[in-house]
Amino acid sequence: MMYSEKVMDHFTNPRNVGEIKDADGIGEVGNAKCGDIMRMYLKIDDDKIIDIKFKTFGCGSAIASSSMATELIKGKTIEDALKITNKAVAEALDGLPPVKMHCSVLAEEAIKAALKDYSEKSGVEIEALKDFEPKEDHH
Ligand code: FES
Repeated sequence: MMYSEKVMDHFTNPRNVGEIKDADGIGEVGNAKCGDIMRMYLKIDDDKIIDIKFKTFGCGSAIASSSMATELIKGKTIEDALKITNKAVAEALDGLPPVKMHCSVLAEEAIKAALKDYSEKSGVEIEALKDFEPKEDHH
């Protein structure tokens, strides 16, 4: 299996790893088949994601996807962050092998779950996430 240089870079040197103690939103998602778990922490100020950190207990592609996703989303408004799909994450990594695409889905869902958590805690409505429920299985 061939991984791009960017995948290898974000796997061996992931950005924004850790947790945010006073996070405004936390999202945790998992994939039932591979057992990988991803957790995202958001700090939000005035509709903007001012800080983001993650912890991923999972495969290399999941770690690279979460790392890239945090880079893409940091500093963005909630609206713009919601436009970042798993495909955008995979493209930013110069591609993932087909059997590893679900790892990038985990990143998209972790971000949405964290934003939904923020919405519920803060009372700020996020129209696009009204019906969002993280799925258990992406295979
Ligand atoms: Fe499941 Fe990568 S193998 S997240």
